Amino acid sequence: MDFRGRVFLAPLTKGGNLPFRRLLLQHGCTVTMGEMAYAYQVVRRSKSELALLRKHPDESCFGAQIAASKAPDAIVAGKAAAERGALWVDLNCGCPIHDVVKRGMGATLLQRPAHLGKLVEEMVKGIPVPVSVKIRLGWTEGEQNASEVARICQESGAAALTVHGRTREQRYSRAADWAAIARIAAERSIPVIGNGDLLTWYETHERWQQSGVASVMVGRGALIKPWLFREITEKQAWEPTASERLAVYFDLAQKMKLHFRDDEKGKERAMRFLPWHFEWFCRYRPLSAQRWVEASKTHPLLQTRMPDDETDLSVLELLLRDGRPELHQKLALLLWESPDAAVAEERALALAAEMPPVAGGAGEMATAHG
Ligand SMILES: Cc1cc2nc3c(=O)[nH]c(=O)nc-3n(C[C@H](O)[C@H](O)[C@H](O)COP(=O)(O)O)c2cc1C
Repeated sequence: MDFRGRVFLAPLTKGGNLPFRRLLLQHGCTVTMGEMAYAYQVVRRSKSELALLRKHPDESCFGAQIAASKAPDAIVAGKAAAERGALWVDLNCGCPIHDVVKRGMGATLLQRPAHLGKLVEEMVKGIPVPVSVKIRLGWTEGEQNASEVARICQESGAAALTVHGRTREQRYSRAADWAAIARIAAERSIPVIGNGDLLTWYETHERWQQSGVASVMVGRGALIKPWLFREITEKQAWEPTASERLAVYFDLAQKMKLHFRDDEKGKERAMRFLPWHFEWFCRYRPLSAQRWVEASKTHPLLQTRMPDDETDLSVLELLLRDGRPELHQKLALLLWESPDAAVAEERALALAAEMPPVAGGAGEMATAHG
């Protein structure tokens, strides 16, 4: 596994489901990561947790992420991931959620660097593939110990380190601190992967070059624009029409049918994911380099509430920008039940007549995760 010169998909609980990862592969993503799996649940052979370690045969460069506090559990989970084809295993040290940190996993590990060092060391010895670690800058703004944590991870044998440029306390309230990411990258000889707020190809290249990181990782940007990977590789934007975007979302529904099965039970399972994806899709706005490149240097576009100042938007465009959950539910069902993308579009237009789109419906970008 080469951790340099790559654009990684971030581990995304719920978002990084297998059908969505397949959609990303189709749109230029080459390095995928699974959803975080609890090591102690893998030890108990939990079916749903083991499913999170599974990759699709088309994923030729796949890493699994685990949450663990104890080395024996982490090793069992890491081996299970490697047996299922993961090329590396990542240890989560950034998850801020109360249920995770109270069990000594996720961001708590940042507060116990010596324990983390031993955990990584044991994982490196016991897991047959490289081990990476994903950290935040620290627990709070006043307790930023990422430099020390990064050094300990390297000395313990970690093959790479992802730095999400925010603290546990900040969640998504602040822009990611790429200067801090750059400092850690300069201090370390193992590859450092920079993560935070990458939404466009030009922001990605700008922050990649200026920070000197080995690689970059995108999370919410991929949820909003599954085609972001291709944009980054080609250094140019694809600004799909509403009709083209609906076809992409239709494709995701098809992939969910293949994965969950095209029956009532499969539909029920897919409906736990597909409407949720629309919470992200509805945030898409074309962000042309001509207009936004300068603004993006002072403030990342992903953290900025974009002005909805475009006029003359089509009905379909307005519908896809609408943030109402009840509408997302209907759009998801409509995609599931349409035989092809053209019929889906006709039905979406009929839906727009029934539920006239509401402008500016998308809520805050922050989620509990990260
Ligand atoms: C829906 C969602 C789920 C996430 N799940 C995980 C996770 O399971 N493990 C993890 O390390 N980070 C998780 N994160 C954090 C991302 O991996 C990433 O570090 C963070 O979103 C910053 O990158 P971004 O600004 O490109 O989104 C999640 C983020 C989101 C939005």
